Amino acid sequence: MLIHNISKIYGVETKTSGIRKGSSMAEVDSLENAWILVENGRITDFGNGVEPEHTERHDAQGMVVAPAFVDCHTHLVFATGREGEFVDRIKGLSYEEIASRGGGILNSAGRLAQMSEDELFEQAKDRLMYVQRSGTGAIEIKSGYGLDVENELKMLRVARRLNDEGIVPVRSTFLGAHAVPAAFKGDTDGYVDLVIKEILPEVVSEGLADYIDVFCEKGYFDLAQTKRILEAGLKQGLRSRIHVNQFHAFGGVDLAKQMNALSVEHLEVLGEGDLEVLQESDLIPVALPACSFFLSIPYTPAREIIDAGCALVLASDFNPGSSPVFDLNFVFSLACVKQRLLPNEAFNALTINAAHALEFEEECGSIAKGKRADLNFYTIDNLDQIPYYPAHNQVSHVMRGGRIL
Ligand code: NIG
Ligand code: FE
Repeated sequence: MLIHNISKIYGVETKTSGIRKGSSMAEVDSLENAWILVENGRITDFGNGVEPEHTERHDAQGMVVAPAFVDCHTHLVFATGREGEFVDRIKGLSYEEIASRGGGILNSAGRLAQMSEDELFEQAKDRLMYVQRSGTGAIEIKSGYGLDVENELKMLRVARRLNDEGIVPVRSTFLGAHAVPAAFKGDTDGYVDLVIKEILPEVVSEGLADYIDVFCEKGYFDLAQTKRILEAGLKQGLRSRIHVNQFHAFGGVDLAKQMNALSVEHLEVLGEGDLEVLQESDLIPVALPACSFFLSIPYTPAREIIDAGCALVLASDFNPGSSPVFDLNFVFSLACVKQRLLPNEAFNALTINAAHALEFEEECGSIAKGKRADLNFYTIDNLDQIPYYPAHNQVSHVMRGGRIL
């Protein structure tokens, strides 16, 4: 198929480069009055000026085309929303207070245990259709509302089935250590044993996870417990991407570096020396501004991270407790308004850099020959107009794997 009559394509890549860091985050290559050739679901050529001949043509009607977003941090498989806790927070309770009363992640775990795998799958599939339609073309999904063998496997099987549905490519992350379940109250080490000795081996033998994650946070899992889990994961061939520094900084970023983690995610608080660790390592920092927005907590100092010469990735953290937000166009706006990212920087953080954070950079994240034809068609004149309208999704339609939806 030849896509023609495109006013501008953003995010074109003619030679592959690594993850964008520091000042290169502000560079977005574009082409005006352009066309894209798509064959067998892949981009085979693109350019401007003289168009190649093709019988099957799609008229972009002067729209802007950009690569689909990549969402590298979500908890998309969950049973129900948690509106009650939302109202409790409006009345004055904090996220941490709600969790300490048995709400929060444990609330979601209780509800998920009641739901069959098929029901969970159907719900998550509907959600993923909305996600895809909003502009996302590849996604990561975590477990972590199971918290026992049966239910963690159930969640990860659902994530695998979602990948097999072919809606968008899915990477799965085993987050058994998301919270300490009620049965292990006061015995976090006992639960860590269960995660390492009982759940992880099953996850690995069924081939259900690409990565391992831990909520490294006060009241959840400390440094020693996080280290044990990450080491066990590494032994089984799972690299880590961890929840760290959301509320407290106590050495988790340094531990992630020692454990050769792929990414450190959240980072609302940076401890002394954390920025230096990011500068001297290949850890990928991931900011989740929709979580900061929804919980009214500080935003990750993304401006400082980029100005220190580091890479930055943005993701939704879509989940029922801290971020019921999946639309990355809104995350784009938040990053610009609240974290002072330039639109070009936020665009790279949501596309090519996010693809690197999922090791999907050969597959998606830019418009390049050989990559999947995952494209968003926008009714805008220029890229800056995406974050400029925070509550208006301007994606007219999308192409996923070469199919117009
Ligand atoms: O990334 N911080 C830990 N986990 C999720 C929230 C999970 C929940 O509240 O259900 C997060 O914000
Ligand atoms: Fe999260």
